[in-house]
Amino acid sequence: MSKKAKEQLLQGEDWWKKAVFYQIYPRSFMDSNGDGIGDLPGIIDQLDYLNDGTPDSLGIDAIWFSPFFPSPQHDFGYDIADYCDIDPRFGTLEDFDRLVEECHKRGIRVMLDLVVNHTSDQHPWFKESRSSRDNPKRDWYIWRDGRGPNNKPPNNWRNHFFGPAWTFDEATGQYYLHSFLKEQPDLNWYNPEVRKAIHEVIRFWLDRGVDGFRLDVAHAYCKDQQLRSNPPFFRRGKNPNRMAFTDQDLTYVIFNLLGLPDLQHKKYNLHHPETHQVLKEFRRIFDAYPGTTSIGEIAGDDPAVVASYYGNNDELHMNFYFDFVYCRFNADSFRRCVERWEHFLPKEAWPAYTLSNHDVTRAISRFDQGHRGDERARLLALFLLTLRGTPFIYYGEEIGMKDPRLPKHMLKDPVGRKWYPFYRGRDGARTPMQWNSGPHAGFTWGEPWLPVGPEIEKRNVATQRQDPNSLLSLYRKLIWTRKKLPALLEGSYRTVNWEVPPDCYFYVRESREQKLLVLLNFSDDQRYCELQEPGLAGEILISTNPRRREGEKISSIILAPYEGCLIK
Ligand code: GLC
Repeated sequence: MSKKAKEQLLQGEDWWKKAVFYQIYPRSFMDSNGDGIGDLPGIIDQLDYLNDGTPDSLGIDAIWFSPFFPSPQHDFGYDIADYCDIDPRFGTLEDFDRLVEECHKRGIRVMLDLVVNHTSDQHPWFKESRSSRDNPKRDWYIWRDGRGPNNKPPNNWRNHFFGPAWTFDEATGQYYLHSFLKEQPDLNWYNPEVRKAIHEVIRFWLDRGVDGFRLDVAHAYCKDQQLRSNPPFFRRGKNPNRMAFTDQDLTYVIFNLLGLPDLQHKKYNLHHPETHQVLKEFRRIFDAYPGTTSIGEIAGDDPAVVASYYGNNDELHMNFYFDFVYCRFNADSFRRCVERWEHFLPKEAWPAYTLSNHDVTRAISRFDQGHRGDERARLLALFLLTLRGTPFIYYGEEIGMKDPRLPKHMLKDPVGRKWYPFYRGRDGARTPMQWNSGPHAGFTWGEPWLPVGPEIEKRNVATQRQDPNSLLSLYRKLIWTRKKLPALLEGSYRTVNWEVPPDCYFYVRESREQKLLVLLNFSDDQRYCELQEPGLAGEILISTNPRRREGEKISSIILAPYEGCLIK
């Protein structure tokens, strides 16, 4: 598609502020050829489910695709061996062009995963780089001599998968740096040729019509140039902005107790100031293609640091804020996350929220204590889709897909295989999309690469489509209603300033022409409240409680356990 046509299609450069995004993990969405692995033609076949222009479909506006580029799949596509092609397992460049065309036809924008902190060790750049010390591409990666007489690694850095960040290469007698697997060597972002090569990659896809990028570990690109060793985790200093002790911290402590030396504060290999420069250069390219957007995977527990990646509206358009992944299921925990973000975000910057992705246990399974996951998932759907900011829905979340507990011999994620049984890795969240209650949930007629999740007879698209009270129907209603409510699309956010019942979280969304109230009951009990918000008609627009009469006008309400309500 020409640049001009794309501009016309996009009608407005900040479409992404009003959009609902959907993340597809291509390996697991739809298999069209029976090899057990999802592919691009399979995705194309299911686009009408995502948005056919009517409320019968889910109604999403954009898709972020996890990587489908040629890759040896050590990290399932996050180890890229060629940035400008499609892995034959997933299809061809022609399939890709058709995918873009079919998405655009339905008003769905296409966002690719830009994984450029590292490449695969099978990328021709790395093959050259490792071939000799004086190869012109040697400096495209980070090579160093070992330390001391015992040839120890250059510093104490650990990779993000809990292992050493350096691997010794016998052939040339030096170590190379890898922030993830040893098959994922880190690029050297101080080398101008690397920057230029990646800029070309970005332009390659923009010229093919894509509308944006999700930037994989964007906070990790540049590292300390002196490669100083990291201090211990507990010396990361006091920071009032940071969340208190999170589950992630707990994982670190447990790993350390197990004798794994991962307990370090990643001071010198994350959030380096030079990374902002790299992002500014990216942004200049994005801006040359009107309507292009970007979102960073910025893992940081300090919202002020995450917020810095917006720059002066000259870096990323959005940044993921991952706090919901570490929240406990209670009103205060979720409220504090939102308030922190609302507080620290620069004025023009735009929030982006998600409950789940391909790296973490699905929300419904995280919050399934006492088998309350299904009710809680309904509440969280209403929460996610009524916040100020762009919501990202992980595939299958809309039908309540759950993580299965996989035995070791079925695990595919190298991280899970390595740390089992302490950690089972990320496969649970990556199982095939459940289309119907037939064999392999209708995902493939072959053997799926991972087994399908539990309870497919109720957790599938075909069944839930027919049921007006299903989670899928709730998602559809929320998404389509959202499109018509200016207060949700562009209104301000404010936690209510009146007293709310225990374990409830209420907020107001307000635009010039509209005011909406969101009531969320996080408790497993009923909660009574009088609506003390002036200027409301009190009409219930949507409730997560199937027995609630929508359209009714109220001045007080008894919220059912885990009920959420949107009120006009
Ligand atoms: C990101 C991805 C994750 C991948 C890692 C290395 O965190 O989300 O799946 O393993 O980067 O690329």
